[in-house]
Amino acid sequence: MCGIVGYIGYRQAYPIVINGLKRLEYRGYDSAGICIMNGEPFLAKQKGKVSDLEKFIGSRKLEGTIGIGHTRWATHGEPNDINAHPHESMNGKFILIHNGIIENYSLLRTKLEKRGYSFKSETDTEVLVNLIEYIYLKGNVAAEIAVRLALTKVVGAYGIVVINRDEPETLIAARKGSPLVIGVGVGEYFIASDATPIVEFTKSVIFLNDNDVAVLQRNQMVLKTIYNKSLEPKIQQLDLDIESIEKGGYDHFMLKEIYEQPRSILDTFRGRISTNPFDIHLGGLYSVLSNLTDAKRIILIGCGTSWHAALVGEYLIEDLARIPVEVEYASEFRYRNPIINKDDVVIAISQSGETADTLAAVRLAKEAGALVLGICNVVGSSIPRETHAGVYTHAGPEIGVASTKAFTAQVTVLILMAILLGRKHGNLSEEKYEQLIKELTLIPEKIEKILLSEPTVKEISERFKDSRNFLYLGRGYFFPVALEGALKLKEISYIHAEGYPAAEMKHGPIALIDDTMPVVVIATKDSSYEKVVSNIQEVKARKGVVIAIVTEGDTTIKEMADYTIEIPEANEVVAALLTVIPLQLLAYHIALLRGCNVDQPRNLAKSVTVE
Ligand code: AGP
Repeated sequence: MCGIVGYIGYRQAYPIVINGLKRLEYRGYDSAGICIMNGEPFLAKQKGKVSDLEKFIGSRKLEGTIGIGHTRWATHGEPNDINAHPHESMNGKFILIHNGIIENYSLLRTKLEKRGYSFKSETDTEVLVNLIEYIYLKGNVAAEIAVRLALTKVVGAYGIVVINRDEPETLIAARKGSPLVIGVGVGEYFIASDATPIVEFTKSVIFLNDNDVAVLQRNQMVLKTIYNKSLEPKIQQLDLDIESIEKGGYDHFMLKEIYEQPRSILDTFRGRISTNPFDIHLGGLYSVLSNLTDAKRIILIGCGTSWHAALVGEYLIEDLARIPVEVEYASEFRYRNPIINKDDVVIAISQSGETADTLAAVRLAKEAGALVLGICNVVGSSIPRETHAGVYTHAGPEIGVASTKAFTAQVTVLILMAILLGRKHGNLSEEKYEQLIKELTLIPEKIEKILLSEPTVKEISERFKDSRNFLYLGRGYFFPVALEGALKLKEISYIHAEGYPAAEMKHGPIALIDDTMPVVVIATKDSSYEKVVSNIQEVKARKGVVIAIVTEGDTTIKEMADYTIEIPEANEVVAALLTVIPLQLLAYHIALLRGCNVDQPRNLAKSVTVE
């Protein structure tokens, strides 16, 4: 949550910072602000989006080759101009942008108030900038020392960039818990919460680790810990292109990302499957494959959509490999004193690789001695760096706040893992093994076909755009898909929606059904088809309106349901990858028709780096 950008070099900083903020706006869009240094700072901040800030700055020509910027997802204090970043210290010595939460801010604020400090905002960030200033002035130390000392007194998470008025040719960046990447150019450095603002200038980057502090001047960077231990910067090369972070002709990132799925799924299994002879290679797991195969139990953890992927993973691994699996919300797992054994394997699933609860759960599982793996999308993010091993999803950057292609890429990795483990466990015959691999390779083509049904989905969306509630039902592999469909609808259209296992409906939710209640049922031809047909009849008997996702050519359900969307036939092991596509399109079109901001829904941020 919150995006931060910084630049120091020879180019004009304002366009770099403002365009960087636009790239990071998916991380929060409650307010935006910048500070451009030209000997003296020029500071501007505004409630609202980066475009509001741009309007506010207007045609003013901002000169300066050092600058910082922030786009905010509010934690402490409502979204308004005063709470927007950058924050300036009381005596104007420091200017700071911050992503994260200072948990002991209240205590620190009281202490500073006792020492004469007053505060303009309600933020934890203003406490930090004043703490730095207090140490700087009281201790008469260099700015870098004041920053480091202040950070040793802070409990919580931060990615910060600091300007000191007395050293106007320096930026100080530090991280703990919240991501920070430094782009390394010739005579210039870029700082950002992720690599997207940096990639058009340089592919050489340094991912800061927790407790790192970087002191940046145009021609030099000094890297150390907050405890003053010198560090050797580790420069890595980014594998990211500029096209992948732009809309490419689509109206929204979400639609682009829905349409990218044939490609992103292919990229996720490409190079990991061979068909002559049939085989699966997951290079990231080689070193731990025997632990994984011998695991007494696998615990899958994640949040939101990644948790839904974990549920699909549970069905897959138990079904194909017969290893017991538990699925946990990372936020519950980390606080509920879970039993973690040394022969458990914990797998953290996360698109961003930065979700605070998932990261904390990873650390907890590691401390308990379990082998901890990651399934993540963002290369170099915290979870892949902190887990023992793992698999990247290769979905490419996902910018829309509503996760689409990351979900299908996560499920693709879980399918590969389940098939691999199934074979190693001797649960899959050679024939079944080959059949499942083949089925997976056919998925991209089948998704292309489903995407052609967008006009049908649009028509259905017109009919239901004003509904107040939705139910989503599915059985087996499609229960998590029902949950995911409901989450997509609620997060971008603000319509209340719930997902249920279809058979659970009669234990309560059926009471809600009347002729105003659309019920989306995943009713493809699989092992529970007959049962789902009965569930549809139960809904129809109560005058519910049924939108069914059916297998091509199905006539039985067509006669019963009010609307049907067809998908190609597929083995149920891989079919979650297909059934979710119409649900993503449905949520997208309903949200669009309701005039909602599809890519940046209210109150949400892409990467939840606070608890
Ligand atoms: C999905 O549409 C959401 N915006 C959200 O639930 C997301 O999946 C969740 O915050 C987890 O994020 P992660 O995969 O980056 O850990």
